[in-house]
Amino acid sequence: MYIAFLNPQGNFDPQDSYWTEHPDFGGQLVYVKEVAIAMAALGHKVDIITRQIIDPEWSEFAEMQDAYPGIEGVRILRIPCGPEGFLAKEQLWPHLGTEWAPFIIEFYEHKGQLPDVFTAHYADGGLSGALIARETGRPFTFTGHSLGAQKMDKLNTNRENLSELEERFLFSRRILAERVSMEHAGRIITSTFQERSEQYGHNAYRGAIDPQDETRFAVIPPGVNRRIFNPDPTEIDGEIDERITMALKRDIPVERQELPMVLASSRLDAKKNHLGLVKAFAESKELQASANLAIAIRGLEDPLRQYDTLSQEEKSIMDEIVALLDAYNLWGKTVAFPLNSQAELAAAYRQLARRRSVFALTALYEPFGLAPLEAMSCGLPAVVTKNGGPSESMIKGDREFGVLVDPSDPADIARGLLRAVDSASADEWQTLREAGIERVISKYTWERTAEGYLGVLGKLREAAPRTGESEIPPWFTDPTPENEIPLKTLPELYF
Ligand code: F6P
Repeated sequence: MYIAFLNPQGNFDPQDSYWTEHPDFGGQLVYVKEVAIAMAALGHKVDIITRQIIDPEWSEFAEMQDAYPGIEGVRILRIPCGPEGFLAKEQLWPHLGTEWAPFIIEFYEHKGQLPDVFTAHYADGGLSGALIARETGRPFTFTGHSLGAQKMDKLNTNRENLSELEERFLFSRRILAERVSMEHAGRIITSTFQERSEQYGHNAYRGAIDPQDETRFAVIPPGVNRRIFNPDPTEIDGEIDERITMALKRDIPVERQELPMVLASSRLDAKKNHLGLVKAFAESKELQASANLAIAIRGLEDPLRQYDTLSQEEKSIMDEIVALLDAYNLWGKTVAFPLNSQAELAAAYRQLARRRSVFALTALYEPFGLAPLEAMSCGLPAVVTKNGGPSESMIKGDREFGVLVDPSDPADIARGLLRAVDSASADEWQTLREAGIERVISKYTWERTAEGYLGVLGKLREAAPRTGESEIPPWFTDPTPENEIPLKTLPELYF
């Protein structure tokens, strides 16, 4: 099959530039890249279509065509979409239907071959999928990754703050684009059953999708890159161990340097709830006696002391972390160091596993939770938020593969962490390590994910085209003031 991924936001390049550093370069890009590579390895031809950026600050993304060295069958296509410079994902809406989607069709028509099927990612990809399907008849799947209504919930949207939030996040466009994506997609792909029922069952999507209608969905979990995340040391493990050891010497007194660590390695984003983790550590003397807290931040040599280069939002999270270290006197119990790539993360997970440490992700809500599975795949047990996908990946029946905790309750976070790092429960750590590796291998690999997609896409290719969807709001193809989406539409849908 010839398959094209629609992913306008962020970007793709052989160096995986900006991954985890920038909010538009998060787990979605890892997902798209890995599924694409796994599909190609199964013999299919794949294009990843993203946005061309012509800007000296973002020079990695200027070429229209690119590829991953050593990977056959995957092409990166960068198609113009609005102004030349970088645009945050919230700014893409007026350019998708006027330029990006039509230019994609033009590109393929010029080449004389359209992909057989499209797979669209996030609302911006989904809207584009619907527009392309309308013109070409080619079916598409829609993978939401993160839906606007849940983001509105997390931001405690109410009638009073709605217009302020709308100004920043343009939810009215996003929710409508999501509704279009859901209605027009041949299938909606979710990572978990919970994502299907909870997220797609939100008021904001009533009338566009019925989460009980199994014929409209496929539940396909994403996978871990086992080429990188596995328990076998590579040539960089020594270097990473040395980096961690040096940081320990700098930040931790000698008598505590051999303790296990509780590692937080997600990007500094309020929703990842670093503060909840630091509070749990701060309020548990028992945990402090058993482990050091470790914080990994990409690109910073001495993250607790020098973080001026971070964005404003990241800086304010670091300020709050440092304030907690001061208030609870956690200096000498907290270490921080940089991890700058997936390979470095994997090496750190292995090295921390040697120290019988634990990976912590206490996000307020985690739609799927790939990072803990990556840590588990390297042999590092995970203590993870119970909110979202981890509730399906960490538990099956009465088997437990990682420890679930309530991210809003520091005492519960501490309890979960202690289960793994308490020296009195050494067997528990080993059991969690083995269960974690086994879980990933049996259920969460990208080959499995690609097979799931290929099954769905193959059926869509043969099925009759979908009919009966509503019109796509004209603003998306003609963003003039007359077509402006009335602001009242958002409260009508959301509340
Ligand atoms: O990369 C993971 C991801 O969920 C993406 O799908 C998306 O770019 C981002 O994080 C979340 O976006 P938002 O905050 O707009 O929901």
